[in-house]
Parts: sequence; C-alpha cells; structure tokens
Amino acid sequence: MPVSRRDFIRQVVTVGPITMAFWMEKDLLWAKECGMPLASAECTLPTPKPPVRFIPNEPKVVTRYSALELAAPSRATQLKQLRDGVCLLRDLPPTDVLSWTKLIAQHCIHCAPSNTDNIHYNWQFLPWHRGLLYFVERAMRKLGKMDDMRLAYWDWDNKSSRTLPTIYAPKDQPLYWANRNLTGPRWPLSDAAVNVQPLLALPNFDIFGGTAKQRTPVPATFSGPHANVHNAFSPGDMADLQYSPRDPVFYAHHGNIDRLWSSWVAAGHKNPDFGTAKVYFYDENRVWSYVLFNDLRDEAKLGYNYSSLMKPTVKLSSLSNRPIVEKNGQLEVPPTKESLLPKFLVLQNVHLEKQAANAVDFGVFFTQPPVGTATANDKANGFLGTVNRVLSSGHDHHADPLSAVLEVDNKLDQVKGPLKLYVAPLDPTGKTTAAAAPLSAEAFSLISE
Ligand code: C2O
Repeated sequence: MPVSRRDFIRQVVTVGPITMAFWMEKDLLWAKECGMPLASAECTLPTPKPPVRFIPNEPKVVTRYSALELAAPSRATQLKQLRDGVCLLRDLPPTDVLSWTKLIAQHCIHCAPSNTDNIHYNWQFLPWHRGLLYFVERAMRKLGKMDDMRLAYWDWDNKSSRTLPTIYAPKDQPLYWANRNLTGPRWPLSDAAVNVQPLLALPNFDIFGGTAKQRTPVPATFSGPHANVHNAFSPGDMADLQYSPRDPVFYAHHGNIDRLWSSWVAAGHKNPDFGTAKVYFYDENRVWSYVLFNDLRDEAKLGYNYSSLMKPTVKLSSLSNRPIVEKNGQLEVPPTKESLLPKFLVLQNVHLEKQAANAVDFGVFFTQPPVGTATANDKANGFLGTVNRVLSSGHDHHADPLSAVLEVDNKLDQVKGPLKLYVAPLDPTGKTTAAAAPLSAEAFSLISE
C-alpha cells in the first residue's frame, strides 16, 4: 500500500444561495483516521523466542529535528515522513508486535505494578527509552521504505516550544490524539518546570541516570522536566505513566529526554560502563532482539544526531560538588570560602511515602510554609524547587523515593550552618495543600560555583 496518494476529492461549497461542487487535489492519507490501539492488548506481549543480539551499526547519520523545525515549510518532507511512519504503525493489526498497541504494551509491561524491575527507577531509564525510539524509527523506516526518516524531538527547553507542538495539534493527521488535556493549569510550561540546567550540571551518571540496582538512587532525570511534561497533560494519556505511549507526542517528549542525555555527554560528562546490561525489543523484522546498553551510548552508531543540543549556562569546570552531612537529624552545610555560592541542591532519594498518594508535585522549602503557600512565581519564602513524580492509572504504585536537583541560586547563599529542609505536596497550580513535613532523603549535596 502506498503510504501517501495524491488524489482528487470532491468538495462541496455553499456560498449564499449558490452551491458549487468542484474537484480538489488533496493528500488523502492525512485526512483519514489512523488506527487506534486495542485496549485489551495494551499490556500483553506474546511469549518471545530466545533473544538475538542486535548490534547497531547504521551506515549513515541523519538528523533528528525538533517539532518546531519540522513545522517550517522547508522541512515538509521530513514532517510527512514522520506522519506516514506514525500512521503505518497505528494501522498495523493490534496483534502485530510492531503495532502501536504492542509499543504501548512494551512500555506497559515494564511499568506494571507487578514488575519489580521498572524501567523508570534505575539506569534502564535512559537506555530503554533510547532503544524504544531507535527500534520505532527502524520499523517506520522499513515499513515506509524511507531510510532517511527520523523521529522528532519536542524542544520544550526552548521558550518558543512551551505548548503542544503545532504539528501534533490538527485533527485530521496521524500525530493527533484525542485524550490530551491542553488547557490545564500547567500550560504553558514554565521556565522552572522544564529547567534542564540543574540536570546538565550533575557530575555523575549515578544521580543523572541511576545505577544497576533499583532506586539506588532513582535517576534525577525522571523528576523535573520529564515528569512535568507528562503531568501537564493531566488528565490525559500522557499523564498516565504506564499508558503514555498511546499519545504520539510521547515519542517527541522522550526524544528530548534522549537529547538531554546526549547533551549531558556533550557537555563533558561520562557515561559508565554498563557491562552486560541490555534492553529487549522486536526489531523491524519482528525478531526478538537485545542490545547492550554499551551499544546504545553512541547515537552515531544508531544513525542519528540532534539538530541542536542543550547547553549548560555555567562553565561546568567551575562547579564543585560538596556533600552535605546529616548529624543527629540535622543537615550540616560545610563552611565555604566566601566565593563558593551554592547553585544547585542535589537530593538523592527523597522519601515521599507519607505524602498524599494522588499528589505529583512536592515543594522543597528551607522554612516551614503554611498550607496554601503559592510557589508558582518562585518567590515564596523559603521555596527551593520541586520534586515530581508521574502517576500510573491514577495511583502512585511507584511512590518512593525520588531524586531531584534544584536550582537554588541566590536562595541558599546565607545558609552556612545547619539547614532544615521541608517538603509539602503542591496542587497543579503550585500551592501547598498540606502542612510541610521535615524532608528525609538518602543523600544531599550542593553544587557550587
Ligand atoms: Cu517510560 Cu516518560 O515514560
């Protein structure tokens, strides 16, 4: 089946009392409905054969463009390839392991409450989603016979991209998704919600992307922009962690999380040796395959690069990392030279199990705020930033703990001795909804300039 057909369709137009009919050239593909997932098959996969090792070694590197760039008339070809690719997968029968339904299932089974090896809370988080995007791209490339097709990324770090990218919005095309809330209080995304600077400054992969062991610590890249963009769509599929890949914009969101990883490496940080750790996917020939994380570290081998990368605004070499020690339940901030100003506060594995199960955002404070304190403008007394989670089907079965890095520039300058931290749940507008409790985490540090 050709993926696109120029065709002539009959248009009927009524102007006042006169009705005219004429034939118009139109691209029929985008006017048709693309297939929808089959709910009953969204969390089940067939029992696979033993996996075969897949070693990515693409013959050429093609650029992934931002959704904003793809909206330019000069990128019409790339945009059409993306739309065709999405429609091709959405149109496969739900039993096909390459179908949209089974992509949702791939994600869902790794996120199900019964799965103790969740892909979001250890070092699988970045490589697993990178692998997903790569195999989706390969399937689309093969089905559409379009070898230069690459996925898009949603550059929400860019001030001009703080609402749903326009190419995803129109109804009569494959990037549209009905179950999206675009009018909630988190739109447009705020600077603070999508601030990548604290993450880019993290010196170790352990905190940035996690370790082999579950929640040791939870990767900081899960909180912050990653969670906030998911939650902006609440209530909608994107805000449901397990089923978020129903919405085509999921792939653009994770394109930007993947670009954050690429940017972190380009900024001078090092990926670890992942050893024998691997991810499993069906390749474009429907062969159950595994790829070593180590083989996913270099995007060039995966055949793509990004049209631009995120850049740290501070010179990373000027930053130093100072652990804060806990003594008798008190945080002791080590004395500093006058010039050493705290820029980022790193919170490793903040415990949230005593917090309201339906809350997703938690404010961190160094004074105890009264209930109803507004944090949205960032000016609230003692407010340092937020820790964020994503609910799965409305509940928090992966509640605790979470890591986060907060930009505390100019807020902690005065704190030299003991530091008391509090945490309180926030409503979607950023107001505290309960009394703040003393914050407990497994490690604290300051990144200073
Ligand atoms: Cu696997 Cu952003 O979710």
